[in-house]
Amino acid sequence: MNKQDLIQQEKNYILQTYVRPEIVFERGEGAVLYDSDGRAYLDFNAGIAVSALGHADPDWAKAVAEQASKLTHTSNLYHTAPQIELAKKLVESSFADKVYFCNSGTEANEAALKFARKYAWNKYGQGTGDEGQGNPKTKIIAFSHSFHGRTMGSLATTAKEKYRKPFEPLISGVIFAEFNDLASVQAVMDDSVGAVILEPVQGEGGIYPATADFLRGLRALCDQYDALLIFDEIQCGLGRTGYLWAHEATGVVPDIMTIAKPLAGGLPIGATLVSQKVANALQPGDHGTTFGGGPLVCTAANVVFDKVSQPDFLAHVRAMGEHLHHRLHEMLPADQVVAIRGRGLMMGVELNRPVAEITKACVANGVLVIGAGDMVLRLVPPLIINEEQIDHAVAVLQKVLSAQS
Ligand SMILES: Cc1ncc(COP(=O)(O)O)c(C=O)c1O
Repeated sequence: MNKQDLIQQEKNYILQTYVRPEIVFERGEGAVLYDSDGRAYLDFNAGIAVSALGHADPDWAKAVAEQASKLTHTSNLYHTAPQIELAKKLVESSFADKVYFCNSGTEANEAALKFARKYAWNKYGQGTGDEGQGNPKTKIIAFSHSFHGRTMGSLATTAKEKYRKPFEPLISGVIFAEFNDLASVQAVMDDSVGAVILEPVQGEGGIYPATADFLRGLRALCDQYDALLIFDEIQCGLGRTGYLWAHEATGVVPDIMTIAKPLAGGLPIGATLVSQKVANALQPGDHGTTFGGGPLVCTAANVVFDKVSQPDFLAHVRAMGEHLHHRLHEMLPADQVVAIRGRGLMMGVELNRPVAEITKACVANGVLVIGAGDMVLRLVPPLIINEEQIDHAVAVLQKVLSAQS
């Protein structure tokens, strides 16, 4: 079928919840995608911070093909080795003592919120609440600019009203405080708060890194009120910032951490990592999923984890992140740039105008770039990106900005 017919059929058959450029991608190699006309695009989006190893990594592809020919799915009613291997790696490389597997970022956050509710229920609920019933500790503090997903719980903790309003009522008890403003949290924190959820580096909301002081302050407040601190590292975790976990750089440890996007190298997966005190609150039957952590996705994730967690790999991300940061500062027109911020290969360029036309022009010039909110360009390339590719992407961005000034 030719490209135009295919695009017409997309309109006919697929629910129109996305705005897509008129490109049909057919294959990828490393940091480059190829469309149905054979045109190459440098991928500075990585499928929204997913394809950490780039496209069609040969080790990943081989492991997935071999596993697919052996066993793909059993459900969580049975043991499979790849899941257990992956859980061991995640636990041994983090603060966590146990892992729960699911299929996406939003599900990982749903699980985190449910686990926080169950922890508080066991400890404070079951008849000891204000009215002598229920859980007195159900409130959740979330933040301005946050994005935690599209299902009802995650959506309730997502800041953007446009995403939330049409779907209300969502889960109740969510209070929004100001990101990086501890006083705004102190003002709403009390014994009824069961959890505080945030991204150590905010993604969708505009690439805002949390300060170490802010995270330290949140940790202390959570300890004081026995609220669980949840870090959503779905976008910023697993090497993206040049550290295996984004929070590592600050020394502040959560009670729960959610990860997803890059973990299985493009296959759907999510994981909720918890400390022992949270794990103690969960029993068989409390939560579950049919697909989560199946042998195929976990085999893929084991390959991704083994590569990304290597010190050399993380050093490469830090070096490329610095290179990108320098190039952006050097080359982009200062009169159009409001701020350049981020960590590692998670970089945001805030402009003095909406970015929609800029991202379109970058794509037309063969570089895939997306926005993070209306005014921020989001640069989240595959973590295997090299200097030459960074230089090319920034040169295209410079050309586009200069042409549209
Ligand atoms: C920080 C963060 N949390 C949660 C999600 C939701 O993940 P998913 O789209 O896999 O449900 C995203 C997705 O962009 C995200 O960036």
